[in-house]
Amino acid sequence: MRMVDLIRKKRNGEVFEENEIEFIVKGCTDGSIPDYQLSALMMAICFQGMTKAETAQLTLAMARSGDTVDLSAVEGITVDKHSTGGVGDKTSLIIVPTAAACGVKIAKMSGRGLGHTGGTVDKMESIPGMRTDLNKEDFFAVVNRVGCAVIGQSGNLCPADKKLYALRDVTATVDSIPLIASSIMSKKIAAGSDRILLDVKTGSGAFMKTQAEAEALAREMVDIGAQVGRKTVALITDMDRPLGHAIGNALEIIEVCETLHGRGPQDLTAECIELAANMIYLGEKAEDMETARKMAKEAMENGTAFEKLCAMVEVQGGDASYLRDTEKFALGKVQKIVCAPESGWITRAHAEQIGRASVLLGAGRETKESVIDFGAGIVLHKNKGDYVKAGEPLATLYAADEAKCAQAEKALLEAFAFGGAEPEGHALVLARIE
Ligand code: URA
Repeated sequence: MRMVDLIRKKRNGEVFEENEIEFIVKGCTDGSIPDYQLSALMMAICFQGMTKAETAQLTLAMARSGDTVDLSAVEGITVDKHSTGGVGDKTSLIIVPTAAACGVKIAKMSGRGLGHTGGTVDKMESIPGMRTDLNKEDFFAVVNRVGCAVIGQSGNLCPADKKLYALRDVTATVDSIPLIASSIMSKKIAAGSDRILLDVKTGSGAFMKTQAEAEALAREMVDIGAQVGRKTVALITDMDRPLGHAIGNALEIIEVCETLHGRGPQDLTAECIELAANMIYLGEKAEDMETARKMAKEAMENGTAFEKLCAMVEVQGGDASYLRDTEKFALGKVQKIVCAPESGWITRAHAEQIGRASVLLGAGRETKESVIDFGAGIVLHKNKGDYVKAGEPLATLYAADEAKCAQAEKALLEAFAFGGAEPEGHALVLARIE
């Protein structure tokens, strides 16, 4: 079999046989297929797509390309959650302890920030001492003891996806439904949980810009989960504007704590209740969704979810006193208030552009080698749908120096648009696919 023939086959819109997909994934994992051929293939897939059968075969081949996690050492039904990525999306650190406080077992592997989107592992590492690199035994022990643990992806989990993802990131081949579906589901299958909750984002800050695309992606992933016997539910959620007020690692941890004390932004709180309820339902700790919602809300209001987060942070080596007294977090020493240039309704708060402004402040990586400034980021005082008067604060920027603030201020202002009419509001959770 020759890679050049397979690239031509896909370029011409033909369908791969299973052994051809195995050949590609093996060659990607062992390095025998050069990057330029893999990149050309990714571009051909972007244009020609893949059938459902091809996508499922690619997913399984990638899931088997490295280590797989056997979670049988964890007692009870394990539930995992994955978001397709967003701006201000700190939901994992709220819903994982909330669902765990309701008895669900969660052994979660999370990622780092990617492009304009943030990553749970980076956010967790803004808590001093926090370890996200536990070995398997410690990982299982924490889940059995506390009910939940969140760590970074282990070194050899889905190496084929790791390679392809890095190539896709720099060859404009990320936003393809079969490639995203196989990338996410291969990692979730290898990570071993019994049930999977997917948060598929749509809008200006998401990889899927329209609800129709997000639903197609969700359907593909739910079907793959069903094929391998992992019950999977997907929620389609809005990412047309940043979620909550905070964007940036320590700032988002502070907002996580506020939300777990019942003082969080309304949009974030509502979305987290829905996501956590789905985890509780998938984990069979509630008989119906209404009961699950009630349980999630109670855990977030009565402090048990917050205590669960503190317990998880402590056993993973983190200093939970920062969660109990969030003033201890060192935030960017330069803080700049950005004011509205005109009066009116905010008709656009472009999530991707705001995410890029936070990267300029140091909250994300410009290159793979960049070091994150945990204290950098943005707190939005206004969001899409709010009315603002000229000169009123729109946001506060946090950075290590003035130059970064100046650059980010320009980018941030370009993300906003103002108008004379209140924009139409729409639901945060747009659909549920099971
Ligand atoms: N997240 C992933 O893990 N993979 C993708 O392809 C896109 C988002």
